[in-house]
Parts: sequence; C-alpha cells; structure tokens
Amino acid sequence: MKTLLSKEALHDGVAAMAREIETTYEGRQLTIVGVLTGSVVLLADLIRHIDQPMRVGVIQASSYRGATTTRGDLIINSELMLDITGRDVLLVDDIFDTGHTLEQVVEKLGDFNPASVRSSVLLRKQGRQEVSYEPDFVAFEIPDEFVVGYGLDYEDMYRNLPYLAALEEDDLKRHRELEKQTQAL
Ligand code: IMP
Ligand code: MG
Repeated sequence: MKTLLSKEALHDGVAAMAREIETTYEGRQLTIVGVLTGSVVLLADLIRHIDQPMRVGVIQASSYRGATTTRGDLIINSELMLDITGRDVLLVDDIFDTGHTLEQVVEKLGDFNPASVRSSVLLRKQGRQEVSYEPDFVAFEIPDEFVVGYGLDYEDMYRNLPYLAALEEDDLKRHRELEKQTQAL
C-alpha cells in the first residue's frame, strides 16, 4: 500500500491539533465525543495529547448503502453517549469527506442542549464537500483518494495500520482474494 502519512507525521499532526484545541478551550472543562468506529485510534491518541480536564464518550454513526437505502442514509445511535446537557462538546471523527456525517451528528447533538459543539477531524479530503458545515479543527488535508489505516477502514479492515495508506487497485485485488479464502474456511 502507498503510505500517505507516516506514523511520525500522524503523531505530529495530532499533537499540533491538540495544541489548537487546548488554546480554544483554555480553563474550561471539555466533553469529547468520538464518532464510532473510525475515530477510535485518533480518539485514543488525541485525548492523551490534551492536558486539560475532560469527560470522554462515544456516539455511533453508520451509513447503510444497501438495496433499500440510498447513499448518505445515516443511522445515528446516541444511546451509548454520556450526558452532554450544558457541556462544551468536541466531536472527534476520522475524516471529513462529503461532510454529511458530521453535519448530521452535530445536528443530532443539538437535541441534548449542549452549551457548545465543535468538531475535530484527522483528515479533510479536498474537493469533496457537499455541505456548508465546516469542522473546527483539521489535522491534515489530503487529496481525493480512498485511504485506510489509523482507524479508517475498507470493509472494516485495515483500521489497525499505524500509518495512513491509499488503497489502490492491487490492494483491492489482494483484499478480495483474502476475503475469498476466509469465507471458504
Ligand atoms: P462523509 O459523510 O462523506 O463526510 O464521510 C463519512 C464517513 O465515510 C467517514 O466517517 C468514513 O467512515 C467514511 N469515509 C470517507 N472517505 C473515506 C476513506 O477515504 N477511507 C475510509 N473511510 C472513508
Ligand atoms: Mg467507515
């Protein structure tokens, strides 16, 4: 796989974003909400870079692209989320692509009357946005390629790669072969 961002580059980018977050929330208690599942690696690293009192929770957002649903249909499950009423909330997600996911999650959080809602993402894909909403903190701008690693998946795999890679045609072929072997077992 073609490496787009090395482990070291990711570390430095996340640390720099943490500094910006600290400056914005200086002297305030933060409530960080990670969007499952893509944010788990970023969430774990980012919170350890922020030297500030905080509460940490999660929310789930999944888009179903089956026969009966159209692209962009999003299911948001807030049952696992901590109480955010009156809190300064910082959402954490893996990537800002079309932007529909984050826009809808931010809207959903409004139902719980938080004091404020901001958002932070590891990546923003250039030239893909379809919404006017913008994330408040972005660690890296990337070209329009499909990427995996550091929490980002293809068919729920590759989240564990410590670097960010572009998934290319050869990689997809290997992925399909591996899947076929696994299914045959
Ligand atoms: P959006 O709603 O189009 O902004 O994208 C939402 C979700 O699509 C992200 O949270 C990711 O889970 C997924 N996604 C978008 N682009 C990529 C990619 O390049 N690799 C892996 N997942 C992606
Ligand atoms: Mg995903």
